[in-house]
Amino acid sequence: MFKKILKWTLLSIITIVVLFLVSINLMYKKKLEAPYPNIHASSDSAVIARGKYLVMGPAHCPNCHGAPGTEDIVDRGEEVPLQGGRVFDIPPGKFYPVNLTPDETGIAKLKDEEIARTLRYGVGFDGRLILDFMPFQNVSDEDLTAIISYLRASKPVKNVVPKPEHTLLGKFVFSFVVDPIGPAGDVPKAVKRDSTAEYGKYLALSVANCKGCHTNRDLKTGAYVGEPFAGGFEMDVPGYLITSPNITPAKTGRITGWTEERFIQRFREGKKIAMSPMPWGPFSRLDEIDLKAVYRYLQTVKPVEIEYKEMIKKVAP
Ligand code: HEC
Ligand code: HEC
Repeated sequence: MFKKILKWTLLSIITIVVLFLVSINLMYKKKLEAPYPNIHASSDSAVIARGKYLVMGPAHCPNCHGAPGTEDIVDRGEEVPLQGGRVFDIPPGKFYPVNLTPDETGIAKLKDEEIARTLRYGVGFDGRLILDFMPFQNVSDEDLTAIISYLRASKPVKNVVPKPEHTLLGKFVFSFVVDPIGPAGDVPKAVKRDSTAEYGKYLALSVANCKGCHTNRDLKTGAYVGEPFAGGFEMDVPGYLITSPNITPAKTGRITGWTEERFIQRFREGKKIAMSPMPWGPFSRLDEIDLKAVYRYLQTVKPVEIEYKEMIKKVAP
């Protein structure tokens, strides 16, 4: 009797596991739907120049889409071709920033609307879910047009980049846990560029991802768990865990007491801590208007008293 029960229990468990594995192997690849933004590249030189500024500067595309081995050049704030080839090897799988140059192996095969949809809705050209590597959902129509116009005008580089490979955990997460992230509220057609806190807010939230790194988050889901800009997000870099500082205007804030000039100067100086994941190189290209705007915006965020004792921790690589 007992043996019989055991046999049937085991058989049921095996059946459930097999069904589960089969279903996640089918589900994680499900094609997602999202609208195609009405965005079309322009060949106007002013639009392309604006796109280049955004791509190489505040939106820091080279930090991920530059070729492996170009990290030091990017850190110096210099331009590199966006030919892809790096890998993000994380628990859900291996993800490869694609070739963004207008070659057949890059974006030549993609329509403007497909590139725009990836950046705004987190849905790839083939309907796959794109994890939140690129929080550009609320970039204005005008700036998204500029970004794509610059990519179209850049020099083509032949480089085949592998397709993502999901681990079992990744297949599960893609099937049941994460959904693509779309824009929060209405996306502006254009944002007025000046040194006001309002423009700084747009840069800090929608373009340069200051909030994404300077707010504590759950590493597994990416969900925000801390107060905005209060830091405390522990980031995994090879051999170390590095915690982002609090940049709210609180007594314990890292930039409290800094003048606007000192803030701008700090960005001009670039990377000082070798393993820092902050894209200091591209940010060193930010012009004064943008840096003033970000500084002024940071003065307006809610002050949060919190300090992190140990910013850099050594861990086994
Ligand atoms: C923090 C890293 C990071 C940054 C910064 C970044 N990307 Fe990506 N990007 C990725 C990764 C990783 C993938 C591959 C994701 C996948 O295949 O699931 C990707 C994929 C893409 C795709 C592929 C879409 C598709 O349908 O296959 C496009 C287009 C793209 N990025 C454009 C950009 C542009 C433009 C910028 C700058 C404005 C940028 N990315 C900045 C990491 C990044
Ligand atoms: C990819 C993650 C990331 C992004 C994006 C990012 N930061 Fe940081 N930031 C960090 C980390 C980690 C540190 C601590 C290490 C260091 O100082 O480089 C840091 C340090 C700082 C510091 C302190 C520098 C010092 O010398 O004490 C300031 C100021 C700062 N960030 C502001 C910003 C602003 C403003 C933005 C957006 C324009 C931004 N960060 C975007 C991760 C990030």
